[in-house]
Amino acid sequence: MRQFEIAPGGRLSGHLSVPGDKSISHRAIMFAAIADGRSRISGFLESADCLATLRAFAAMGVSHSEDQGDLIVDGVGRHGLQKPDGALDLGNSGTSMRLLSGLMAGQAFDSVLSGDAGLSRRPMARVIEPLTLMNADIQGSEGGRAPLQIRGGRALAGIDYTPPVASAQIKSCVLLAGLYADGVTRVNEPGVSRDHTERMLGAFGVGIERKGCQLALAGGQELHAFDVAVPADLSSAAFFMVGACIASDSALTLRGVGVNPTRRGIIEILQRMGADLLLRDEREQAGEPVADIEIRSSELRGVDIGADEVELAIDEFPAIFIAAACASGTTRLTGAAELRVKESDRIQVMADGLATLGVDVSVADDGLTIIGRPEEYSFSGGHVHSHEDHRIAMAFAMAGLRASAPITIDDCDFVDTSFPGFVELARSAGLDIQSRGMS
Ligand code: S3P
Repeated sequence: MRQFEIAPGGRLSGHLSVPGDKSISHRAIMFAAIADGRSRISGFLESADCLATLRAFAAMGVSHSEDQGDLIVDGVGRHGLQKPDGALDLGNSGTSMRLLSGLMAGQAFDSVLSGDAGLSRRPMARVIEPLTLMNADIQGSEGGRAPLQIRGGRALAGIDYTPPVASAQIKSCVLLAGLYADGVTRVNEPGVSRDHTERMLGAFGVGIERKGCQLALAGGQELHAFDVAVPADLSSAAFFMVGACIASDSALTLRGVGVNPTRRGIIEILQRMGADLLLRDEREQAGEPVADIEIRSSELRGVDIGADEVELAIDEFPAIFIAAACASGTTRLTGAAELRVKESDRIQVMADGLATLGVDVSVADDGLTIIGRPEEYSFSGGHVHSHEDHRIAMAFAMAGLRASAPITIDDCDFVDTSFPGFVELARSAGLDIQSRGMS
């Protein structure tokens, strides 16, 4: 397994482009695959997770090619997917599994969705339950985990569904099954979650209506090819945003980053913490807002972060915790139990790593409290474990900028699930990071 070793200190500077958005890349393949005609996807994220989605559709007869760095997908239409030879192996990717479960429930053929050990520990009852209400036949293994066995040829029926938690993955799963269902499928969102599915289905020609927190989609609609320009991923930019805030003499511009209002919690939280962070040249790109983000060294202060902000920054908390450890005062996060069922238990795993690096942190069921150390060295050196979680590894890499001694991070192979080229890009910006060991 790969380890990261970060020498202490340094500053971040320059103009960087982080890779394409993971959520949008997944959806672009899925929707292009079941659309009529050829779609071009520029800025596609070639990460392990998105490539797992691409391979799954290739196994169902969808061909793709590359043209001038863009991904070309030849859609087969809503009923054109073919039965794959074996299980669809989705690796570590929760988004692939949860969204595909909705899509596969509407197919004429049987399918099996499987994943690696990490994905097989994550809760899938949250998609099995609504799909079963729609008359799908979907079975998980014990405790509602992957692999998922899905029977094809079922007559799905639209439902009016309120998910137990705000989750774009549950919402998207139900809406995708809704494309194959009789009647109207309604999802009542218990809180705001990323809206890439709604935006992109609209761009592919699907009528989808929002009234307040309810989404409604009529079954039987066809998708038509669309060219998607994927913005840079705010979740990947987040590590550099935090790094530039906490390292002295830093000034960084991150180009063309997606700043969708349902995703930009990290921007608002960092600004509330006192970050010198500006959005420049806000514009629209294939139906998604993007901007250049300028960020400089900042004196941060601790803040309270409540349940209403959690889903808006759901993937950014590992990075936010690093910022909090460098801030003056206390940061308290509550209402964030969902962090415990991500690629790792991000509350416990981050708390353990922070404690190893000398940070005063305490854990609750639904969040944690960090007492910041705004000194030159907010972290000691030490050896932390990422628990095979890409975002934990990248967050602790940034801690090196404010550490008094080297930091070693274990299990870093998984960084490639969302951010291929992280080490090289971080080094080019000024982080003294080495990647060692076998991949
Ligand atoms: C995602 C939704 C979020 C997020 C995940 C990607 C998506 O998950 O954490 O990384 O692309 O829909 P939840 O819907 O479970 O919050």
